[in-house]
Amino acid sequence: MDVIVTDNPAQAFHRAADMIATEIRAIRKPVLGLATGRTMESIYRLLVRQHKAGTLDFSSTTSFNLDEYVGLGPENPNSYRHYMQEHLFAHVNMRLSGIHVPDGIAPDLDAECTGYEAAIRASNGIDLQLLGIGETGHIGFNEPPSAFDSRTRVVELDAITRRQNSGMFGNDPERVPSRALTMGVGTILEARRLLLVAVGAGKASIINEALNGPICENVSATAIRLHDKATIILDEAAASLWKRPTIRP
Ligand code: F6R
Repeated sequence: MDVIVTDNPAQAFHRAADMIATEIRAIRKPVLGLATGRTMESIYRLLVRQHKAGTLDFSSTTSFNLDEYVGLGPENPNSYRHYMQEHLFAHVNMRLSGIHVPDGIAPDLDAECTGYEAAIRASNGIDLQLLGIGETGHIGFNEPPSAFDSRTRVVELDAITRRQNSGMFGNDPERVPSRALTMGVGTILEARRLLLVAVGAGKASIINEALNGPICENVSATAIRLHDKATIILDEAAASLWKRPTIRP
């Protein structure tokens, strides 16, 4: 696992966007796992900028988003499908057929989850999975406890997460959907490369737990340490409580 600590959030976002762009350029048919949330907004902005400058082509890229709220369709401004349209898809040349976000209004949610896993397999798996981290230590919406072999499924959102995400819902946690579809920890660990990005002092405590705490299903992000190609990009503030291993000469 590589941990990169940058001086400020802007540098963290640039490092992350450059890693994603390098992956897109290096692979003939790249398959990206995408995340939503505040952290990702700046990263998508940088990718869009590269595309508009003519240096990044998304035409052969396939994407799978991590998660979606149950009950919110693509037209709902709070849905993750809508978020992705606004922050990335509308501005780059991805094929519509290459875009996958779990369908939060599917009539049969379990079938949607099974189909999502099958679609990832049919695309030959995910090359690079982008991840944020929630206050509960979730990656995707894998709230504690989430088995490390869990697959795409319907989950109940933790009260902490509903509060964390209430900004888009008039700051009222009760208005945040109580359930979501999420790739499982097992699904995420199968990606060939993981990239987790966290910035800001608000992430410092959970980052220390994720990097130094016991690897356990109560903190999904600790699973990343089991992956042999994982990169964590932090700014100084997010790394401020991380007890870095001392390297002895
Ligand atoms: C969203 C997702 C979540 C977020 C996490 C951090 O698709 O999978 O795990 O990455 O909650 O969110 P922000 O970036 O808003 O702090």
